[in-house]
Amino acid sequence: MITYTESTHEVTAQQLHGFFVGWPIPPSAETHLRILRGSDFLELAVDDEAHKVVGFITATTDGVLSAYIPLLEVIPDYRGRGIGSELLRTMLTRLSYLYMVDLLCEPELQSFYSPEGMRPAVGMAIRHYGRQSGAV
Ligand SMILES: CC(C)(COP(=O)(O)OP(=O)(O)OC[C@H]1O[C@@H](n2cnc3c(N)ncnc32)[C@H](O)[C@@H]1OP(=O)(O)O)[C@@H](O)C(=O)NCCC(=O)NCCS
Repeated sequence: MITYTESTHEVTAQQLHGFFVGWPIPPSAETHLRILRGSDFLELAVDDEAHKVVGFITATTDGVLSAYIPLLEVIPDYRGRGIGSELLRTMLTRLSYLYMVDLLCEPELQSFYSPEGMRPAVGMAIRHYGRQSGAV
């Protein structure tokens, strides 16, 4: 059974494998845990029987006006079961006290986000690929 939690208290790095698919220099599981703990908001999907995290979403916010959702991922074996939508819905509800909630995505993912009320927008971004596995 998949359960959802916003707490990392029970989570260990060993339960965080299989994420950052396709990233050439992915963060380690330990760094992933630091990312989760450093986020203002997070939600995890956990497979209780397998004792592992199978999906996560994070957000950073100023707590006044705006928030940004940098990461959302469901590990491949668990995709297509509504887990990503559930994580997104929960996060958007939690952030609904704010004026603006932004994220960046590829055009083909817009149809994933639009049922939750998100609309296409133009953005800009910079990436320091040498730091893809995380700041020390
Ligand atoms: C995007 C992602 C989080 C979706 O998670 P998921 O648990 O498979 O999503 P759901 O099962 O809730 O899918 C909900 C709907 O979105 C659609 N959808 C899911 N992934 C999609 C994708 N990559 N592109 C387009 N549509 C997608 C599904 O077909 C489904 O539509 P339906 O309800 O009509 O069947 C997952 O595919 C993933 O982790 N991808 C790699 C990381 C990524 O791209 N993250 C987003 C960063 S912007």
